Amino acid sequence: MLRYFTAGESHGEALVAFISGLPSGLKVDQSLLDRELWRRQQGYGRGGRMKIERDTAHILSGVRHGMTIGSPIAILLENKDWKNWQESLPVEEGDPAKHKPVGSPRPGHADLAGALKYGFAEARYVLERASARESAARTAIGGLAKLFLRELGIEVLSHVIAVGHASIATEITWGKIAALHKRDDVLLNCADPQAEQHMKEEVDFALKNGDSVGGVFEVVAHKVPPGLGTYAQWDERLDARLAAAVMSLQAVKAVEIGAGITAAASPGSAVHDEIGYEKARSFAGFTRKGNNAGGIEGGVSNGEDIMVRGYLKPISTLRRPLESVDFATREPVKAAYERSDVCVVPAAGVAAEAMVALTLAGCALEKFGGDSMTETLRNFNGYLQQLRNY
Ligand SMILES: Cc1cc2nc3c(=O)[nH]c(=O)nc-3n(C[C@H](O)[C@H](O)[C@H](O)COP(=O)(O)O)c2cc1C
Repeated sequence: MLRYFTAGESHGEALVAFISGLPSGLKVDQSLLDRELWRRQQGYGRGGRMKIERDTAHILSGVRHGMTIGSPIAILLENKDWKNWQESLPVEEGDPAKHKPVGSPRPGHADLAGALKYGFAEARYVLERASARESAARTAIGGLAKLFLRELGIEVLSHVIAVGHASIATEITWGKIAALHKRDDVLLNCADPQAEQHMKEEVDFALKNGDSVGGVFEVVAHKVPPGLGTYAQWDERLDARLAAAVMSLQAVKAVEIGAGITAAASPGSAVHDEIGYEKARSFAGFTRKGNNAGGIEGGVSNGEDIMVRGYLKPISTLRRPLESVDFATREPVKAAYERSDVCVVPAAGVAAEAMVALTLAGCALEKFGGDSMTETLRNFNGYLQQLRNY
């Protein structure tokens, strides 16, 4: 069973991610993990924090001589900003005069709900953990899931569909997404250059007005064989698992599988992907005229690319803050402001790739099992043969 979780605060000493259940014998490419972390830090509209941090995945356990050994893997990501926070967020009691309280909750952030839940007089500890800095830890273990999936021939990537009112006008092929991924200059991670310029204008407008802007990313998982996930139980459906995984990311407020949203207003004849057959063209020879289902039917992967979209609300920390209330006096004040991103759609897409990869890796391990990659790949290849013989 693949299990993973993270620990760490935004301005604490480090983030730590744990993953248990990966088979032994998986080659670990450190440069892939670090590139994933770099990708998560990119995008037009990021705040000053990204200039301080240059994340690297420091593997503490579970990998020896470049390979997984079947033991739990722990990864540490240092927070470079810690040196500026050591005195205000110490582990020991420290000097209360040096604390940096967050005195007025930001509408849309976790500040108020978290302070009420945990009984804090102000929101510092809340935002320290609610912050999406945490998604860097998930991105690191997501990199391991991607390496595992690669062994099965599966690739997971993302691109940006919309920022504010600007959205792509053309259909984006897998080839275009793959080319985008190779670029070393990330603007808004959009494969349509014209749309990307409009997206940049949306961010510029928000920047100029002390505001923020949301958008939509799409994660595509390429060459996923049919048969991952199941309709047998509600919590084993692949669509449900992917929706929870992507929704678990900070600021994602809706998740769409395939053409789920437009499908709700379309006739069935325009939505469902007609079936054909051409022996050499797919895992079992069955073909589709389209992929409105986003590669999942009945909670089971159907052999087409898996398409998951995440809808991001705009960032809640605003340079022109909204109305709030002072925690101490209950008097009306402006919400707190702390150095913040203005647009994070590309970064959220990268973190969502990690969540999709972890989910698919979990489903693949449930189906194919194996304590070593040799065993997993033997089972996987046997299944591919079974599909070819179908
Ligand atoms: C990659 C990424 C970076 C983010 N950066 C910020 C930020 O700089 N400032 C901020 O207020 N929110 C930021 N957020 C969003 C908050 O973390 C999120 O809105 C908050 O934790 C409340 O959770 P919720 O929006 O899921 O309800 C970011 C989200 C993501 C995915």
